[in-house]
Amino acid sequence: MQKRVLITTGGGDCPGLNAVIRGIVKRASLERDWECIGSVEAYNGVLWEPQEIVRLDKKAVGGLHARGGTILRTTNKGGPFAWPIKGADGNWTTVDRSDELIRKLQIQGVEAVISIGGDGSQDISQRLFEKGLNIIGVPKTIDNDLLATDYTFGFQTATEIAADAVNKLVTTAESHNRTMILEVMGRYAGWIAIYAAIAGGAEICLIPEIPYDIGGVAEKIRARYDQGRGFVNIVIAEGAKPRGGEVVAQKAEEVGYQNLKLGGAGMRLMAELKEHGLDIDMRVSILGHLQRGGTPCAFDRVLATEFGVKAFELALEQKWGHMVALQGRRIVSVPIKDAISRYNLIELDSDIIRTARGLGMCLGD
Ligand code: F6P
Repeated sequence: MQKRVLITTGGGDCPGLNAVIRGIVKRASLERDWECIGSVEAYNGVLWEPQEIVRLDKKAVGGLHARGGTILRTTNKGGPFAWPIKGADGNWTTVDRSDELIRKLQIQGVEAVISIGGDGSQDISQRLFEKGLNIIGVPKTIDNDLLATDYTFGFQTATEIAADAVNKLVTTAESHNRTMILEVMGRYAGWIAIYAAIAGGAEICLIPEIPYDIGGVAEKIRARYDQGRGFVNIVIAEGAKPRGGEVVAQKAEEVGYQNLKLGGAGMRLMAELKEHGLDIDMRVSILGHLQRGGTPCAFDRVLATEFGVKAFELALEQKWGHMVALQGRRIVSVPIKDAISRYNLIELDSDIIRTARGLGMCLGD
């Protein structure tokens, strides 16, 4: 009798998801008694009527290591614990379908679930594990904000894209004597911003971990112009905020979407600088979802593949409730609950902050 492992991808997509799927399937194919299936759009494929579950064999995952997105599709709305339903009054509420999910997985003969996702998806993994599901987690996010792993796959690719954008903005800033503001993703963590700022040679980098003093930022810009260096490049994280202020965010209107939608920090910064009397040409670019699309860089392909192979091996070892992680040069396993206990933010005494300061980069404080 074949044992079945069900693979899901949940939350926002991220370069490298397909490489994880391929790693799991290829490793599983070395075991005679295992087969892989995938649920479309996280757990929706299991919960929908009719179900959308696909068979994943070696042929189905051929060439996937280099392909962006996820062949299983994904969602960051709802989930088995908060399934949106429309009431008779037209209003949306949620119901808990987690028990039904576990029952359906038993009927499907699913021995193990491998859930590839970020903090929201791994929170669901932990809750399903506590209900008795045999589950293994694989950390995913371009934001690199998951604890217990040195890097999540997708982060390096997003950083490459952001650094490339800084490079491009530097030449146009210089040509026009302008201050260019580049807003990058990362939610409440400044990893993409600070890596892109250092890699691209920006003079100012504003991250959520250091609320900025607008006066100090304006002063840094003025000083550069006064020295005859008539252009400045600023990288700002979408989650950056001024001292005493809040992040720029909107409540999402999409049904089942629980996160705040961050965005607008760059435009706000430009307005604040103008209010502060800076009479210079400024432009804002928002990189947005370009950071999540396209083919994963080689590092992310390798990391994602290592995570996929290890995730299946954890299933063989029955290390349920654990997540694969990169620690130093080793691929290890950690309890999912440790990984989701808090965000992995940049520590103020870390080497990356020391390096940025060592370059004379203004971090807004
Ligand atoms: O968590 C990944 C991420 O890309 C964040 O950096 C960003 O704030 C958010 O997802 C965007 O989400 P959505 O794709 O739902 O707009």
